[in-house]
Amino acid sequence: MQLREGFMMVLSTRLPLIVQCLLSLFVTTSLSAPIIITRETFKTCRRGAFNGVPADCCPPKFIQGPIVDFSPKYNPSKPLRVRKALQCLTGKELTIYTEKLQRGYALMRALPDDDPRSFKRQNEIHCAYGTGPFIQNASANLTLDIHLNWFFLPWHRMFIYFHEKILQTLLKDPNFTLHFWNFDSSVTLSTSERPGCFKAGHFFPPMYLDPSKSTFEPNRTYRAFEPSRPVDLSFDATQWNPLGGVPPVFPNYTLEEQVWRNGATMYKSVVSSSNASSFIGKPFRAGDVQIVDPTIAAGNSEKWPHISVHMWIGGLMYLAQTSPRDPIFYHLHANVERIWDLWHKLGDGRADPSDPDWLDAEFLIWDEKKVMRRVKVRNVLDIKTLGDTFENVNDASWICFQNSTSTTPSNCSSTKTSMYQSRGTE
Ligand code: C2O
Repeated sequence: MQLREGFMMVLSTRLPLIVQCLLSLFVTTSLSAPIIITRETFKTCRRGAFNGVPADCCPPKFIQGPIVDFSPKYNPSKPLRVRKALQCLTGKELTIYTEKLQRGYALMRALPDDDPRSFKRQNEIHCAYGTGPFIQNASANLTLDIHLNWFFLPWHRMFIYFHEKILQTLLKDPNFTLHFWNFDSSVTLSTSERPGCFKAGHFFPPMYLDPSKSTFEPNRTYRAFEPSRPVDLSFDATQWNPLGGVPPVFPNYTLEEQVWRNGATMYKSVVSSSNASSFIGKPFRAGDVQIVDPTIAAGNSEKWPHISVHMWIGGLMYLAQTSPRDPIFYHLHANVERIWDLWHKLGDGRADPSDPDWLDAEFLIWDEKKVMRRVKVRNVLDIKTLGDTFENVNDASWICFQNSTSTTPSNCSSTKTSMYQSRGTE
């Protein structure tokens, strides 16, 4: 914002009006106001496109009923739901969770298409926000997108929050949680003294691979179906052109090489991102032209490992217009949320933007009772206020990676390792 304002000020003080007018045609006219989604935004929704593929996903043009402000209240006396690492669920807990998850998606898939909680409509709301069908304040021909800019993390948190609520409602279980696919954990650590999950989680979760179940999706690439192939987080999203249409190539690394590359990628994405602009993403305000290039405005939290995991799974996960139709989407994003939370805990200036154009941006999204809610970015910044927390896992395996060329990522001193591990549980 400062850069652009500075530039506009130079324009207005040094140049004659006519030259200013001409020049302003070539300068993004940011109003320095937050993006606000209204009933009008829904009314003016039109066809979008992403990766050259059209997106026909407008929600109903007329929002029925009231729009209710969402403001979570943290109640410290109420226990938080613990989102756990999928790879550490065992025995009865694993059986119960798998059954609930699969029943939840079966129920969601069975809802009629006009129910905003249906599996189809969950995909459509993400598509409408994420492929350009919504335009800014109706008259301007500016699209908006919750990808590739600073809205990536908070918008997806709202989406996952209400998605989790919908599953809870369908299952009649208010304690059901969307656990996380802990794909960043590649190192199993034997630990008896600390609570949490210290088992590597970089394989595709098996509960998504049963073709007879609602969590299955047949169009994933072969990679997801090879039980001993670790996910490749190191695909460089800056090489990915969303308009290019060509799926990326993933080389076949050995397990050891892959573990090393994944550690390096996580370190680059999270530890090396020392400020909001690099981790969260660049500003996107009312009046801004949407940038469809991950190298320009997307934060590292979006590029790595998030886009790499979407690409690695492939199939419906390639495109923003279809990715939430693969149920693994939600467990992937639960981990992205966890990594955001962890990034805050690393401290040293790693903090969310304080810019009101971010904090006061407003989005509309249906809740678990089919009521339209108005959610501001500032309402979703602390996962605790939404009732969830995360199980402690082996983040030290990559936090301590440093830029070591050793193939063993865990090269932290034991003090540093235990510091990060215990900070993870806060
Ligand atoms: Cu809206 Cu993982 O994407």
